Amino acid sequence: MEEQMRSEILKTIPYGFYITGVVGSDGEVNGFTTCWVSQVSFDPQQLIVAVRKDQHTHDLLEDSGVFSLNFLDTEQEELARRFTEPLQHENGQVGGSAYTTGETGAPLFEEAFAHLECRVAGKMEAGDHTVYLGDVVAASLKRPADILTDLDTPMEYGG
Ligand SMILES: Cc1cc2nc3c(=O)[nH]c(=O)nc-3n(C[C@H](O)[C@H](O)[C@H](O)COP(=O)(O)O)c2cc1C
Repeated sequence: MEEQMRSEILKTIPYGFYITGVVGSDGEVNGFTTCWVSQVSFDPQQLIVAVRKDQHTHDLLEDSGVFSLNFLDTEQEELARRFTEPLQHENGQVGGSAYTTGETGAPLFEEAFAHLECRVAGKMEAGDHTVYLGDVVAASLKRPADILTDLDTPMEYGG
C-alpha cells in the first residue's frame, strides 16, 4: 500500500527526454531513450545519468567511458519510443537514425536538436542502475526547440 503510494509520488517527478548515445571499445554504436538525467555541478560542468544494468547499452558505456546526450523535442515522441527497443547498428545508422561521430567517439544523432558529450568521471552503484557522473566536454546546438518531457506524453519511467 505505502509502496504503491511511493511509486505514485516518484512518478510525479518531471523529466526531459534524451537518447543516450554509446559506443563500445570495438566501435559498436547504439543509443537508448533516457530520462534519469540531471546537471550536478557548474564548475566543472557535470551531469549524471542512471543506466539500467541489464541493458546491452550499459555494457557499451562501461566499456568506453564516454556517452552523448541527444536532446529530443516535443514532436519526437515516436523517436523516443523507437529508442526504448533494442536496436541494431547497420548501414551507418542505429535503428534507422543517422548520426555523426563526436569528438569523444560517441554518436550524435542528427534528429536531435542539441547534443552534449561527456567523459565518465565517476560512477555509483544504485540498485538496478549505475549512476554515471560525466564531465561535459563538447556541445552543439542545431536548432532552438523545447525539450520533450514526460508531461507531453504518456511514456513514463519511474515509480
Ligand atoms: C520514458 C522512458 C525513459 C527511460 N529512461 C531510462 C533511463 O533513464 N535509464 C535507463 O537505463 N533506461 C531508460 N529507459 C529504458 C531504455 O530506453 C530501454 O531499456 C532500452 O531498450 C535499452 O536499450 P538496450 O536494450 O539496447 O540496451 C527508459 C524508457 C522509457 C520508456
